[in-house]
Amino acid sequence: MPQPMTGDLGDNVHVITHPLIQHKLTIMRKKETSTAGFRRLLREISMLLGYEVTRDMPVTFESIETPLQPMMAPTLDGKKVVIISILRAGDGIRDGMLEILPSARVGHIGLYRDHETLEAVEYFFKVPSEMSDREVILCDPMLATGNSAIAAVDRVKKTQPKSIKFVCLLAAPEGIRNLHAKHPDVPIYTPAVDERLNDKGYILPGLGDAGDRLYGTK
Ligand code: URA
Repeated sequence: MPQPMTGDLGDNVHVITHPLIQHKLTIMRKKETSTAGFRRLLREISMLLGYEVTRDMPVTFESIETPLQPMMAPTLDGKKVVIISILRAGDGIRDGMLEILPSARVGHIGLYRDHETLEAVEYFFKVPSEMSDREVILCDPMLATGNSAIAAVDRVKKTQPKSIKFVCLLAAPEGIRNLHAKHPDVPIYTPAVDERLNDKGYILPGLGDAGDRLYGTK
């Protein structure tokens, strides 16, 4: 499937081109897709993204017994994972991720976008108290200007987690460049990199306002 070139976007961008994800994303982009459909598809895509984003997570081996014999079997410590949702649309990704990482801890960061300056302003922050051995998956469907993502990563880094990965549904080249100019160490996972932003900071061709489409608030 043709994808925009990501070479000039740097190495730390993972474009997840799996056909199942691409197909579901196409349905999400359509203006006639219902709120219920949009919500279900975001959940399904997020489960599939969760599979990709956990690919390199360390496993430990525990001693178990099958009905036939003992063995050392690999396990992932789900409690070490913290899914942090950038409110409010990040909750759509959070819900899908939790389907496949049911033991993960959950954090929330509330940021609103000042419509004049497009800058992110924080109004809520709650994550587990001890973060030093936790792997953060930071979720926001739209990486547009990158301002919210930068503010969220700035804030999450203050808690000194073991690692941070950023997961979105759509990214604009500007958002990727801005986030990586400030935080080149944070890998970005996205199913697609779209063309550009419009003058209101929306991704083109995009899918519109992800929060409004997820919650039916428009
Ligand atoms: N936020 C959205 O919901 N959509 C965009 O296109 C950009 C930011």
